Amino acid sequence: MKTVAVVPAAGSGSRMNREVSKQYLSLAGKPVLVHTLEALEACPGVESLCVVVAPQDLSTVRDEVLAPWGLRKTAAIVPGGRERQDSVRAGLEAVARDADIVLIHDAVRPFISTELVERCIRAAAETGAAALGVPVKDTVKEVTPDGRIVKTCDRTVIWLAQTPQAFRRDIIERAHREAFRDGFRGTDDTSLVERLGIAARMIPGDYGNIKITTLEDLAVAEVLLRLKATGERRRTNGEGRESAVLRGPMRKRFEP
Ligand code: C5P
Repeated sequence: MKTVAVVPAAGSGSRMNREVSKQYLSLAGKPVLVHTLEALEACPGVESLCVVVAPQDLSTVRDEVLAPWGLRKTAAIVPGGRERQDSVRAGLEAVARDADIVLIHDAVRPFISTELVERCIRAAAETGAAALGVPVKDTVKEVTPDGRIVKTCDRTVIWLAQTPQAFRRDIIERAHREAFRDGFRGTDDTSLVERLGIAARMIPGDYGNIKITTLEDLAVAEVLLRLKATGERRRTNGEGRESAVLRGPMRKRFEP
């Protein structure tokens, strides 16, 4: 089984109101993108990576991001498109023809673990399509554009989709081809596969696998990185009763 990872990293930093795109912001002295690529390169099941960046960033990423940090599995850098879906489609075109599985992971999720990447790949190999996600913790409302609550959703069946999402190569290529043909726009890749009548497998992910979208997320990321460095943070996926950071007497009081 040969797995290639496609990493969409061609977004602009508009939601952060910053000049620099989120994937290039510094997290403990290293670009977020490098943290993410290092995490993927550490996965034995990932054979190579294809990074999709904004056309104007191609040479900067090659010379100032990939080379200095010695990222060896990153085999291709390709120009992305206007929306995430266009960038992923561009990445898929660069994936080697002999790849069996394509793993798609956002550049702005640097806290992915080897264990979850491998679990996602295994599920995709078994079922054709898989995504990481976590159950929602809050109550979910459906709201009209003018702000009226019309419905409370059954939160026991609502999950938040994360990346990575992994697919058999033929399935994800067909999903993107048909979405492009039909002008369908989805915010993740399983939404394109759902249109083919294929139910992707949901893999319990990790609440710590955050997507760095706003400045608040960057602050959380700094904390998560510090906890990771000291080995304090354990995975919390909503299945268990994990307490993330309790120590000493507090730990004794609260741990089951
Ligand atoms: O914008 P969004 O939150 O959906 O971004 C998720 C990922 O998709 C980010 O890593 C971002 O860089 C990437 N992206 C992309 N091409 C775009 C827009 C977003 O590769 N045109």
